[in-house]
Amino acid sequence: MVKQLTAKIGPSILNSDLASLYDESQKLMDSGADYLHLDVMDGHFVPNLTFGHPIVKCLRNKIKNAFFETHMMVSKPEQWIEPMADAGVNQYTFHVEPVKDVASVCRKVQEAGMKVGIALKPATPVDVVTDYVDMADMILVMTVEPGFGGQKFLDNMMDKVKWLRKNYPTLDIEVDGGVGPTTIHACAEAGANMIVSGTAVTKSEDPEKVISSLRNTVNAELTKNL
Ligand code: DX5
Ligand code: ZN
Repeated sequence: MVKQLTAKIGPSILNSDLASLYDESQKLMDSGADYLHLDVMDGHFVPNLTFGHPIVKCLRNKIKNAFFETHMMVSKPEQWIEPMADAGVNQYTFHVEPVKDVASVCRKVQEAGMKVGIALKPATPVDVVTDYVDMADMILVMTVEPGFGGQKFLDNMMDKVKWLRKNYPTLDIEVDGGVGPTTIHACAEAGANMIVSGTAVTKSEDPEKVISSLRNTVNAELTKNL
């Protein structure tokens, strides 16, 4: 059976009130989020710090059912595989740029019982994924330079998404950075189906409405191509 792609919306809590991480996260799930995108930064791979596995574990203790994706903006992704699996993470999305043996990291993530996401910074050519795409559950095309929420969407990244969609028609393709109601059409048309949206959702007065409009835009595009 051919895999049917669907739109999935994963809000990023990076720019929300992290003192109320649980409330903010639960509110996003109650507003219709399909998953939570948790931005982990180590101050080395990106010039910013957020949180690590102890906080993810606490969040998991309070939110049992949500699908957790950790976006690992860290220099040594292999170091955090076991702790994140133990914290109850469902998908471990790591950047190729600092990793020498991408295949080995993919294998370790799988062995730890998590799905594999492979992330690309804006300057990284998309065809680096060719050797690893078979091991990945998802490719993340960054649409801003990783490190901070609230940045401007880089629309020239859409060529990468189009290339991936053309070559891998059933692949889950995620976009992250500056994605919201004004940029979702470009993402959907290019072929992205997993949508990370931070500021546009968490700073909205009606997160539920934003999430459903993002989902509708992507699903409309996906059904066009059936
Ligand atoms: C950037 C992070 C993103 C970001 C998304 O480094 O990976 O997940 O927080 O936030 P917005 O949608 O505000 O760009
Ligand atoms: Zn992210």
